[in-house]
Amino acid sequence: QRIKIKELLNSPQYVEQMVTVKGWVRTRRSNKNVSFVALNDGSVIHNLQLVVDPAHISEAILKDITTGACISATGTLVPSQGSGQSVELQVQALTILGKADADKYPLQPKRHSLEFLREIAHLRPRTNTFSAVFRVRHALAFAVHKFFNDRGFFYIHTPIITASDAEGAGEMFRVSTLDPTRLPKTPEGAIDYAEDFFGRETNLTVSGQLEGELFAMALSEIYTFGPTFRAENSNTARHLAEFWMIEPEMAFYDLTDNMNLAEDFLKYLINYALEHCADDLDFLNKRALEEDKNKKKEEQSELSLLERLHFVVDNPFERLTYTQAIEILRNSKPNKKGKFQFPIEGWGTDLQSEHERYLVEKHFKKPVILTDYPKEIKSFYMKQNDDGKTVGAMDVLFPGIGEIIGGSQREEDYDKLVQRMREMHVPEDTLWWYLETRKFGTTPHSGFGLGFERLVQFVTGMGNIRDVIPFPRTPKNAEF
Ligand code: 4AD
Ligand code: MG
Repeated sequence: QRIKIKELLNSPQYVEQMVTVKGWVRTRRSNKNVSFVALNDGSVIHNLQLVVDPAHISEAILKDITTGACISATGTLVPSQGSGQSVELQVQALTILGKADADKYPLQPKRHSLEFLREIAHLRPRTNTFSAVFRVRHALAFAVHKFFNDRGFFYIHTPIITASDAEGAGEMFRVSTLDPTRLPKTPEGAIDYAEDFFGRETNLTVSGQLEGELFAMALSEIYTFGPTFRAENSNTARHLAEFWMIEPEMAFYDLTDNMNLAEDFLKYLINYALEHCADDLDFLNKRALEEDKNKKKEEQSELSLLERLHFVVDNPFERLTYTQAIEILRNSKPNKKGKFQFPIEGWGTDLQSEHERYLVEKHFKKPVILTDYPKEIKSFYMKQNDDGKTVGAMDVLFPGIGEIIGGSQREEDYDKLVQRMREMHVPEDTLWWYLETRKFGTTPHSGFGLGFERLVQFVTGMGNIRDVIPFPRTPKNAEF
């Protein structure tokens, strides 16, 4: 019976016992008398050292114990004499489950660049860095469900194919069938690709929020957690064409309740990772420190990854309005020349990520929640404030990341919502069902969206969003 390496390393009961392990060979060092094989099965960052005596194992098998090969080994677990590990396996029997041609296997036992590893997304989970990232990603996803379940929120599955544009920003991917016989024809007899979902124009969802709102107005507190799609230029280290979003939506919450929930939620998730992923975060912390050494002095982080995570969970986030933020930015001297690369254009325009990062990393040196943005730069569904100029929006900004959460109190008044949709040219016909909630039993309600990959980036310290999702979808990358 196979035992996972994580279990062997954590439970003293296996010492002096005969056990079987299975996994992939990371490295092998050999001399005449003995081979040391570092075996990893992905259950934990650590390898198990196998001690292979060539007298016990046939020449034919020995030659196939190469980096990348999958093997099964049975032997006695003993305290290790070597440094670096507490136990090792004295191998008595070994079988090769899958060979890996040493000359062709792309993952050599050395440090590969992240860019190279992105090209071999099918093999990169076998590296220390990526296995750590994806274990942390798993733990965070689990923590999302635990957080909400413990608070009585219900998990709602919202559709992926939809006819409506939840953000009204026109960044949708069209859904189309490849079978032309299923498509309607135009009066001239041509195939009508515009109406391609059995006679309707449909897209991949950009957000589950609007459907989430319907359920909040029935079950009170709900959340979604699913893939969302944006046809925006995703050639940055923070954007993907396909990303996962968590969107809680709560009846009877105002903007302050919404901010409190967002702050509690983020702190809970980071704490959960600190508690449950200590080995992986230790590894990623060392990795980030090494990366930092190769950077220019002014780009090096003041805090290590672990210090950053502790700092965020231990300190209150700074809360201020967009208008106050503009004031701070106007009076600031960000670099030696005292200028931003992109000037603050003035009240009413969106902040560039450079400005957001200045506020978070230089001015306040902690996460910031900006509220009450000009209505022109935010979505149609946000609650209009009494000043007639701003809406009850909130963006949570994180060091090194920028915007990690976007949310708002929603406009619950039917007339105001319809008026705003008309002003912003949001079609009412595809959203009639959304508008009906404001006719029948409407109530103040709020919600937000957390970009899951941006959270994973923050917790793992990975610089590029493509390195925290198993198969990144970006303009260049859609193969597997
Ligand atoms: O600010 P956004 O566009 O807000 C919404 O979609 C709302 N419907 C959320 C809500 O109120 N329920 O997106 C929310 C978050 C952003 O703060 C960011 O973290 C992430 O989603 N995000 C992306 N992550 C990766 N790649 C992209 N292209 C992203 N676009 C947004
Ligand atoms: Mg946003």
